[in-house]
Amino acid sequence: MTVERTYDRVTLPHLGNQVLRMGVAANGGLESEDITYAAERGVNLWLYGRSFGKATAPLKDLLAREREKHVVVMLGTFVLTARGARRTVEKARRELGIDTVDLFLMPWLGRTSRFSPAIQDALADMREAGLVRGVGTSIHDRERAGRLAADSILDAFMLRYNAKHPGAETDVFPHLAKRDPIVISYTATSWRQLLKPLQGAQMPPWPGAHVGAAMPPLTAPMCYRFVLNSPHVHATWTAPGNRQELDENLAALDAGPLSAEEEVWVREYGKQVKSKRKRDYV
Ligand SMILES: NC(=O)c1ccc[n+]([C@@H]2O[C@H](COP(=O)([O-])OP(=O)(O)OC[C@H]3O[C@@H](n4cnc5c(N)ncnc54)[C@H](OP(=O)(O)O)[C@@H]3O)[C@@H](O)[C@H]2O)c1
Repeated sequence: MTVERTYDRVTLPHLGNQVLRMGVAANGGLESEDITYAAERGVNLWLYGRSFGKATAPLKDLLAREREKHVVVMLGTFVLTARGARRTVEKARRELGIDTVDLFLMPWLGRTSRFSPAIQDALADMREAGLVRGVGTSIHDRERAGRLAADSILDAFMLRYNAKHPGAETDVFPHLAKRDPIVISYTATSWRQLLKPLQGAQMPPWPGAHVGAAMPPLTAPMCYRFVLNSPHVHATWTAPGNRQELDENLAALDAGPLSAEEEVWVREYGKQVKSKRKRDYV
């Protein structure tokens, strides 16, 4: 399937839907009416799960009116058995009034969690039966993610990727070409860490700014733009705390890509944040 991409929109491999490259997770603090508002702003990629109660009614409404336009990604909860995976999907179908969940994500495949043949069969069976259109996982173990990207039944990966943690570039992205799974990143702001002033940051001026111009910390839109600059990331999640943050973050898409110099700057800032300890934050 041809993947078409502009800076703000992409056709998702395996599903074929065209989505805005910023998907919304409602568990950061958004109200129900913010979901409808986000949809009006063009958002059509949604994270859904147990703690996303406020999103249920507006999402159900959107899906009843324009099912084809939206992609619902269901994130399972903690430990999942084969039966638990199916129950989770059935519940989402009931709650959202839909026949098919677009993507079902295993909640966690860490270093120690077993991706048992029974779970793999359950996922593949759900896909075959049309209960889900694709299956994937949210995963922190990048090396395992790389192996699964190259060879597994999984259609999608939800990965940590940001200026402080760019390790997916070496551990996962080189393994994508073989099967072209969907990549949706999270933690663009590194749990807000990239947004906090960093004492003693030794940064050059922001590209184009005059010497001595005040710059750090990063803004949230810059964090999302860093992530969206990657050709390997189909979309990023955003979990804004309120409507104002939602607007700010969506503006990252309007701002367009970071220039090469800006990307280098943000990468360097992330590196410095990583090398600092907690007490270095003001
Ligand atoms: N293992 C997993 O499966 C896993 C791991 C991580 C995340 N997730 C999920 O993935 C989704 C996305 O999470 P994320 O960590 O990627 O969220 P994010 O978009 O990086 O947002 C994280 C935090 O950044 C702050 N923020 C966002 N926009 C801002 C703005 N414009 N100005 C100031 N602060 C801003 C907010 O903090 P304040 O509310 O304090 O303003 C927000 O809670 C969520 O549903 C999350 O639960 C899952």
